[in-house]
Amino acid sequence: ITNHRQEVYRPQFHFTPEANWMNDPNGMVYYEGEYHLFFQYHPHSTKWGPMHWGHAVSEDLVYWEELPIALEPDELGMIFSGSAVVDWHDTTGFFNGESGLVAIFTHSDTHPDTKQVRQRQSIACSKDKGRTWHKYEANPVLENNELIDFRDPKVFWHRGTEKWVMVIAVGQCVHLYSSPDLINWIFESEFGKQDGSHDGVWECPDLFELPMEGTDKTKWVMLVSIGENPDIAFGSRTQYFIGEFDGKHFVNDHQPDVTLWLDYGRDNYAGVSFSDVQDGRRIYMGWMSNWHYANEVPTSTWRSSMTLPRIVSLQESSNGLQIKQEVVEEVDVLRTHHRLLQNETIDTEEIIPIKGTCMEIIAEFDIQSASEFGIQVRKSSQEETRIGYHVDEKNVILDRRHAGEASFHPWFASRETAPMEATNNRVKLHVYIDWSSVEVFGNDGEVAMTDLIFPSRESDQVGVYAKGGTVKLVSCTVYTLASIW
Ligand code: FRU
Repeated sequence: ITNHRQEVYRPQFHFTPEANWMNDPNGMVYYEGEYHLFFQYHPHSTKWGPMHWGHAVSEDLVYWEELPIALEPDELGMIFSGSAVVDWHDTTGFFNGESGLVAIFTHSDTHPDTKQVRQRQSIACSKDKGRTWHKYEANPVLENNELIDFRDPKVFWHRGTEKWVMVIAVGQCVHLYSSPDLINWIFESEFGKQDGSHDGVWECPDLFELPMEGTDKTKWVMLVSIGENPDIAFGSRTQYFIGEFDGKHFVNDHQPDVTLWLDYGRDNYAGVSFSDVQDGRRIYMGWMSNWHYANEVPTSTWRSSMTLPRIVSLQESSNGLQIKQEVVEEVDVLRTHHRLLQNETIDTEEIIPIKGTCMEIIAEFDIQSASEFGIQVRKSSQEETRIGYHVDEKNVILDRRHAGEASFHPWFASRETAPMEATNNRVKLHVYIDWSSVEVFGNDGEVAMTDLIFPSRESDQVGVYAKGGTVKLVSCTVYTLASIW
């Protein structure tokens, strides 16, 4: 039976659970033809509560099938964020010489004596492609009595040292551990006390190697999400570091005071990458919300969705070496109708003759005299979301101040900017619009901006605009996208 999810604001082509609360993506792994997405899940409410791991699988990263809950709270506590790997060579001894899946996650509870939060790391295995899970009988496998914030282990196999490596968030830094078997862990090093942003507690780290486009070199990239700081309008967001890693220590290439942002929008948090993808792609997904208002967003039967899956790579850009992001090409199957505009001069506003609530727009502008130009989406006489470029400030703009419902939190109605130079006087904007989100990629993914929006169903127009002069719209393709439900 197809379940056509038509509730107000229900994402049509982003993963959402059928019902109830979801936050971070967990345990993302590719195994035997399936992408597994586990997620922080509260099955009894649309608000955060005792955490479980929900579960969904997909063969193509587009259509997801939600499966029964994978991990439930137990006597060691709630099941917080973590990762999963394929134990190809049975290093654990759980799989009788075969391969299988191992999840590594945080058990969070309250210490019976001190009454303080206690976070310990545990593992579970699955011998049936993630359908059923058995927690290891000697859990936890890693604890540290001195630490309160000690969570979100992300594990990978390091070929150079032939060991498993774990990165884990500890207060406002990352600890690195190694293990031969996912059971016995040795502390190797600490990173980040002085590096990057410390606006909030560090959470959900990831560490992976990426080729540097156009060279035969590689670099290591560490992602670190920064938790909500109630005094900072931006809320929770994700930074990253580029550097070297020898299996034990991560060394930042930048000065400690440099902060690199993965996404300049407000709603891409706690994202990490898939493990064991076999085709060389490093695929990332984030949680499309912000701890400022995640519990308050005006959705009904469910709360939260994930970003589209994105390929992350490293490229030299106007801002130096940085992460580039592009949506996986599998998502192209959702394109239905399209409308192409070419070589038009825009001086004020022009409505494009195609309507829709789910869209993909690829536009290229040649800068003329306008001070600002761009695209208007989910537009009506009452509402619109603007995705633009400010010529003098050299910024991509994402403006959701008039996008729709915003009364649930004082900081929701916002306008964000991301620094980006034009290339050969041209600016490209690639945008995905769903019933309650916008994802923007500037100049082939040099910058990314992700925001939630809550427009009314009737806001289904799309337009292009220019302010203070003219801009040439070299080309603009607008696709309506099909629903995955
Ligand atoms: C990040 C986070 C993690 C934690 C989980 C709890 O959003 O706070 O650090 O494991 O959510 O649900």
